[in-house]
Amino acid sequence: MTAEVLDIQDLDGVGPVTANKLREAGYDSISSLAIAPIRELVEKAGLETSVAHKISKAARETIQTDFVTAKQLWERRKTLLRLSFGSSNLNTLLGGGLETQAITEFVGEFGAGKSQISMKLSIQTQLSAAEGGLEGKVLFIDTEGTFAAQRVFQMAQASGQDADKILDGIIYSRVYNSDHQILTVDHAFKICKEENIKLLVVDSILSHFRGEYIGRESLSERQQRLNSHLHKLLRIAQALNLAVVVTNQVQANPQAFFGDPMRPAGGNIMAHASTHRIMLKKSSQGLRVAKVIDSPYLPESETYFRITEKGVEDAVPRNKRDE
Ligand code: GTP
Ligand code: MG
Repeated sequence: MTAEVLDIQDLDGVGPVTANKLREAGYDSISSLAIAPIRELVEKAGLETSVAHKISKAARETIQTDFVTAKQLWERRKTLLRLSFGSSNLNTLLGGGLETQAITEFVGEFGAGKSQISMKLSIQTQLSAAEGGLEGKVLFIDTEGTFAAQRVFQMAQASGQDADKILDGIIYSRVYNSDHQILTVDHAFKICKEENIKLLVVDSILSHFRGEYIGRESLSERQQRLNSHLHKLLRIAQALNLAVVVTNQVQANPQAFFGDPMRPAGGNIMAHASTHRIMLKKSSQGLRVAKVIDSPYLPESETYFRITEKGVEDAVPRNKRDE
């Protein structure tokens, strides 16, 4: 029997009472238990540490995650999917499209195009593989209330897609504070699995955290909670082979003597958790520049795009047209 058909109550050490506690904390499958940190099982489900250890071990043994060979790692990497942006410039910048099993962060000042790209990707995800899509649905977590269904409708219609069907394929959640945001992601594994979610968006990842934790004394608590939140997102991406997109703002870096005085908010925690970081900037002639600023294997290159009726499209700045 595989982990898919087993219930969490089938694990050694999980009776009805513990199963209830786990479900209430959002752990409703063996795979969600296998990837949860022990500390989290203790804190969120109120388990004894020794019990949490035992359950975690049983879950991992059931789905056999502990040791893999490099060959298996390579096989897993080959299952990685790529989502087309509908712009070949952006696809090329990202090494062939947005990756599953990773967190891609779009960072930039207001109006740079972070939300527009997130909405465009929410459409692209639902297209067939032949069209560069992932043939799945989208979970869109909106922290600022800027998701616009009418804009998604317009993009889909202008691109010749069935706009009503596209809107049906986006599961939307407006979150009002960082606790709510964390709780939503804690419970996302189940819905992502059941609804065949292939893209999970958090737009924007830090706004609540930044608004709620003010002053130096609360910074380390904020960073700890943010870290565990981001790791949860990454584990969902890896366990379910889906893409995660988070957006982030820039903030002034008072220590910058050289180069760009603006840097992504969220410090080292944010920098380490994002697999790929893409900086978006407004440019002249209404164009936008997208630049890889941090990635384990993408080169640090940049490209141009435009925000249009269809969403995002390739662009070439006037002075580069004849190159
Ligand atoms: P913040 O959330 O404020 O940090 O910014 P953001 O990076 O999310 O910006 P967003 O993606 O919302 O981009 C807003 C910009 O997109 C606007 O300034 C417009 O230039 C452009 N835009 C928005 N809607 C449309 C549209 O319907 N058509 C076109 N052509 N452009 C649009
Ligand atoms: Mg936005």
